[in-house]
Amino acid sequence: MKPLITSPTFFIGKEANDLISFGSGQPDLPPPDAVFSILPHYHDFKYGLIQGQTNLRTALAKEYPNASADNFVITNGASEALDLSFRFLAQKGEKILLPRPYYYSYPYNAKYVGLETKFYDLVNGKINLDNFAENLEGCIAVLINSPSNPTGTVQDVDTLRQVEKLAQARGVYVISDEVYKDLIFDRENYLIRGDDVITVNSFSKTYAMCGFRVGYLYATNPEILRYARNVKTHTSMNTNILGQEMAYEATKVPRDYLEKQVAIWQGRRDLIYQGLLELGLELNKPEGAFYVFPKMQNSNKVVNDLYYDYNMVTYDGSWFGFPDHVRFSYALDVEKIKEGLSRLKQYLAKNPV
Ligand SMILES: Cc1ncc(COP(=O)(O)O)c(C=O)c1O
Repeated sequence: MKPLITSPTFFIGKEANDLISFGSGQPDLPPPDAVFSILPHYHDFKYGLIQGQTNLRTALAKEYPNASADNFVITNGASEALDLSFRFLAQKGEKILLPRPYYYSYPYNAKYVGLETKFYDLVNGKINLDNFAENLEGCIAVLINSPSNPTGTVQDVDTLRQVEKLAQARGVYVISDEVYKDLIFDRENYLIRGDDVITVNSFSKTYAMCGFRVGYLYATNPEILRYARNVKTHTSMNTNILGQEMAYEATKVPRDYLEKQVAIWQGRRDLIYQGLLELGLELNKPEGAFYVFPKMQNSNKVVNDLYYDYNMVTYDGSWFGFPDHVRFSYALDVEKIKEGLSRLKQYLAKNPV
């Protein structure tokens, strides 16, 4: 009996022979060698600072204008930074505005802290400012995710400036989930800043360090930082200190490491985008991250069929609040992408969508 696949939990961490996984959003390319170089000499084992190791926070402060180490709390991946941010916001109001399609955890982040959700619908992956402004009414906060998971879209700089202004004028907090900020191909991104902005970031994607669980929250508002430190004291305590030392090594890696990674992602993006177009699918060209999100009717059936009959992992758009679309993560090598496209072609020949 084959269980119906209804959530990404079924796939996370799954490996098998001949499986082509366009599933999980984790880079297949390894982290920079430097992150492993400390291992032979590493011997710390005691509790660390709740807000994170000073060397790592000091290094991060160099990446943000006028920042100091005190503006950061190092977290168990961006996931914990999101959770802490949602908890903070639940103390401040009742409703949060989320993008749709969304990264599948956001509605759960809201639910677990008792925040109601409202959605602004992305149009071909882009924010529509009228719809955005209308929906902002009555919300304590809004979440921005550019580049986006699952669409790979990068928002226009002008739009993001408008969003920043609107939120400021209405006294609304912004969570800016920037985990893909270093993985952009076609154009500039704009990183939202301000007193009521909580920036969430991670070493998972930029440095391919997902399993080490190191992320961070950056804010200028001391109330947010104090709250995050206090909650963390009683929930997870310090983030893994070895992971933090490895992340610190990653901050020292020359910029050309990232440029080389981005060139590889871009080549794969071009390959899968073109391949899906040639199969007759309708999709937007992603500008960042490592996802494509074509339209495919009955997406849950597609995901189940592709897994059970073609040994291929894909994610149902419904999990991102956007049915009749399927997310393909192209974090896998070119030969596997080609093989996946070929299996998809066979599937589509029998099951047009
Ligand atoms: C948009 C977005 N935010 C946050 C996360 C969580 O990342 P982390 O591994 O740092 O917890 C992910 C992971 O896929 C993501 O896509």
